[in-house]
Amino acid sequence: MGISATQLEIIDVAPRIGSEIRTDVETLLSGREAPRIREVLEQRGVVYFRGLEISDEQQVAIAKTLGTTVATEGEGGIYKISLDSTVNKRAQYLKGSLFWHFDGSLQPYPNLATVLHAIKLSDAGGQTEFCNTYAAYDDLPQSDKDLIADLRVVHSAERSQYYVTPEMSYEEVSFWQNSPTKVCPIVWQHQSGRKSLLLGATADYVVGMSVEQSRALLARLRDWATQPQYVYRHEWQVGDLLIWDNTGTMHRALPYAADSGRLMHRTILAGEEPLN
Ligand code: OGA
Ligand code: MN
Repeated sequence: MGISATQLEIIDVAPRIGSEIRTDVETLLSGREAPRIREVLEQRGVVYFRGLEISDEQQVAIAKTLGTTVATEGEGGIYKISLDSTVNKRAQYLKGSLFWHFDGSLQPYPNLATVLHAIKLSDAGGQTEFCNTYAAYDDLPQSDKDLIADLRVVHSAERSQYYVTPEMSYEEVSFWQNSPTKVCPIVWQHQSGRKSLLLGATADYVVGMSVEQSRALLARLRDWATQPQYVYRHEWQVGDLLIWDNTGTMHRALPYAADSGRLMHRTILAGEEPLN
């Protein structure tokens, strides 16, 4: 047939994180560039495709070329990200997404990656910021690497809800305390040999540290990891398909109104690597 395969065109959009990939829907659906896309995703933390005009089914099909999709939430592998509780019953929980976090911090395995498709945007706000937690770890002074090498952190949904509702009622606290907590290392030693930081809004306290020391350390490390040189801010256009490596980045949405209509369709790729 003589049809030559479309090459991926890769444009780095910030020095340490984020690449736009230009290609076409057929190439993505074929899966023939999937290994390369996964490689770029791991190296760059965030990749996005612009102007593809894909359907929900195509979003899921593209995700399946990259890994194992998680179908536990959302019809047909698509989960609706909205802060409007008439669109998503878990809107209150999702308000935690306005603060730095990684997805699946409370799950047995953190997700490998998250795929977000911009369906409708807010008039104001609603950009998404990402930071590269591999690069942030690499650049830490050796004294900090030594300090945090074996530290573990208890993550909880309750903790992230204090960001959303600082003065929670007893009922609210009790409700969120019903969600299971999880202990994660601060330093994730990947099978590849690389290391990334695990922090974020669900990070409640460092095991074995005083409350004050623990809060100070978590804030200091988050400040470090979210410095401008590690951050890419995505200015969404309708139709963007964006993927982040959830094992080596944190992200947050910038504030937008719950009734703005902003809607993202999310597909999750299952984690492939346990935490140490
Ligand atoms: C998520 C998330 C951010 C956004 O889907 O996990 O945090 O910008 N989304 O909607
Ligand atoms: Mn998230």
